[in-house]
Amino acid sequence: MTSTDMRYSILLVLLLTLLGCKPDKNEDPKPDTDLISGNYAPEAYTISIPKWMPPLPATPANELTKGGVALGRMLFYDPILSRDSTQACATCHQQALGFTDGLANSKGIRGQNGSRSSMPLVNLAYNTRGFFWDGRSVDLENQALLPIEDHLEMDDTWDNVERKLRRHKDYPTRFREAFGISRKTELTRDLVVKAISQFERTLISAQSRYDRIVWAKDDFPSDEEQRGLELFFIEYAGNQAHPGCSHCHFNPLFTDNNFHNNGLDAVPNLSAFKDLGRGKITSLLSDNGKFRTPSLRNVALSAPYMHDGRFKNLEEVLDNYSRGGHGVANEDPNIVPFPLTAQDKSDLIAFLKMLTDTSFVNNSAFSNPFKR
Ligand code: HEC
Ligand code: HEC
Repeated sequence: MTSTDMRYSILLVLLLTLLGCKPDKNEDPKPDTDLISGNYAPEAYTISIPKWMPPLPATPANELTKGGVALGRMLFYDPILSRDSTQACATCHQQALGFTDGLANSKGIRGQNGSRSSMPLVNLAYNTRGFFWDGRSVDLENQALLPIEDHLEMDDTWDNVERKLRRHKDYPTRFREAFGISRKTELTRDLVVKAISQFERTLISAQSRYDRIVWAKDDFPSDEEQRGLELFFIEYAGNQAHPGCSHCHFNPLFTDNNFHNNGLDAVPNLSAFKDLGRGKITSLLSDNGKFRTPSLRNVALSAPYMHDGRFKNLEEVLDNYSRGGHGVANEDPNIVPFPLTAQDKSDLIAFLKMLTDTSFVNNSAFSNPFKR
């Protein structure tokens, strides 16, 4: 044999040995690190709503379960969803402030300024007209996808958030309990936003002083509150112009969830709004400068006001409404000047404060689950 032949035959022997080498049948298979163990026994979560509230729209694609709501609450409060772990959803949506942040423009990670004011998260389960000030998200699931990758908000990537949650010591089990997944790789962004949305749908506020008095009838309004209530709800009395607030902020949600231009900006034409609002989404000129009516439930807690937080307090809001807009083409016809005495103003504010629901802002089911 030549030395080349010899090398070939050595290789051949090696190859045969390798092929013949079968794994030892008695050896345990390598533990599959992707598998999640634990129980999956989902229990339905029923939101209890008082009889004066309308029935909740069904969400067949994401039915609420106890495990799902509990997981959503954790995720909502967990800064793990932001790039540098400094910000949770709850940073900009604080329970004590009706789930807003008290700022004119929300601040993202590293303190960057967003361009809009945080929105109150209240009775969201009723809204079918789109989320955000401009309604650009069709549902809560879609809405929750956005803050994570928004550079001015949490500024992470979904791939990275999925990685962080999959290697976390608790979350995989929690996702299994909520959604019955059996592998960590099945823990995806879709399930994250489903859980968060389930929690958000439980944020029902319907036990304010107003509800106690008007619907439950277990208390009486003060004279001030009663006068404020009438001013708020009566649209016209003879020739006397009235605030007409309830035209858009009506019972029992105190919003129509629709888009209006409520007369904030004096612009020379419909293209000149600094923030186009709804118009940017629909590309309709007539929608420029329109924003979704926010609910006034807990409004006394959620200053400053409007999509850009331009008004510091409710006095400023009322002064502006009483001036009756600026005659811009698409201003809502219900935005008309009305007389507002100092007494009217304090009456209306007394009424707006009746919409504060202390049982909502103190509800331990909505609070930070990591603080005990
Ligand atoms: C940096 C502050 C910030 C963070 C963090 C943040 N939000 Fe928001 N949120 C806002 C602002 C500002 C808006 C209004 C933005 C707009 O209309 O363009 C908003 C709007 C919303 C709305 C729409 C409410 C409505 O009635 O239309 C929901 C729901 C919401 N946020 C949920 C969340 C969730 C869930 C998270 C975490 C995944 C989150 N937010 C994180 C500031 C924040
Ligand atoms: C034509 C419909 C309409 C009428 C009438 C109306 N509003 Fe509004 N309201 C809106 C819209 C739309 C917004 C959001 C506008 C924006 O941010 O650009 C708003 C915002 C507000 C806000 C700010 C809430 C927040 O979370 O920032 C308050 C407070 C308010 N309205 C109170 C009133 C009162 C009080 C009246 C009666 C004097 C009234 N509104 C009449 C549609 C209306």
